[in-house]
Amino acid sequence: MNSEPVLTFQAGRYRVHSFTTLDGTNAEAQRNGARPGTAYIAGSQTSGRGRAGRTWQSPAGNFYGSLVTDVPAGQNPAQLAFVAALAVLDCLTGLVTEITPSLKWPNDVLVRDRKVAGILIEAGDGGYVIGIGINLQSSPGPEQTRYPATDLLAITGRTIRPESVLEPLLSAFDRRRDSWVRHGAETILTDWLASGHRIGDTIAASTATGRIHGAFAGLDQEGALLIDDIHGMRHVVSAGEVIFSGDE
Ligand code: BTN
Repeated sequence: MNSEPVLTFQAGRYRVHSFTTLDGTNAEAQRNGARPGTAYIAGSQTSGRGRAGRTWQSPAGNFYGSLVTDVPAGQNPAQLAFVAALAVLDCLTGLVTEITPSLKWPNDVLVRDRKVAGILIEAGDGGYVIGIGINLQSSPGPEQTRYPATDLLAITGRTIRPESVLEPLLSAFDRRRDSWVRHGAETILTDWLASGHRIGDTIAASTATGRIHGAFAGLDQEGALLIDDIHGMRHVVSAGEVIFSGDE
């Protein structure tokens, strides 16, 4: 059962509603009409949603938040994935200077090749809900996840409190979104590639029509994933996710 927010406050451009616990911050944003300029955070979630219908385990101690944004006419909403992933990367790099996060297509954030943050973007009545989960103090074990996971406590030995994440994350998102709106896709995709897979990396992607395995060949101008398979055929993946990434 959800409660009323324990706190509502303004952070930059966002009206933030903070809860002790929720079924999920994406669910709460959707119930409230997905109004751009709102954000929802929770100390824990009882039914956190992950990509592809998966569950996102949400014990207290990690960050769970959703912000709602709109997409100007002429911009491709699918590129919010790159905007959000870069915002999380910026935020983590600012909070924990000793790590170098990387990106897994389209919008997972990794540290030392393990997933530290996940992003779920959903279209809503009034805007796009960008749900972000960051493993600060705990992460699911190998039997519970499709891709190996880790958390910042395990990596750095330091406890980062969820409360310290919100403001840098919102400002990083606004900076990246502003740049995307001003300069278009090219800049955001170039920045994504600087922290993403390296050309030639062996990757496997899961798509609606099956699994594609081959060498990472870059992104097309909209951000679709390009994979060259062993037969020399190029695959253009617009929806799905990378489920394996290596360098041989
Ligand atoms: C993924 O599968 O990688 C995406 C995970 C997204 C989890 C976050 S936690 C905050 C927000 N609320 C949800 O129910 N899911 C997202």
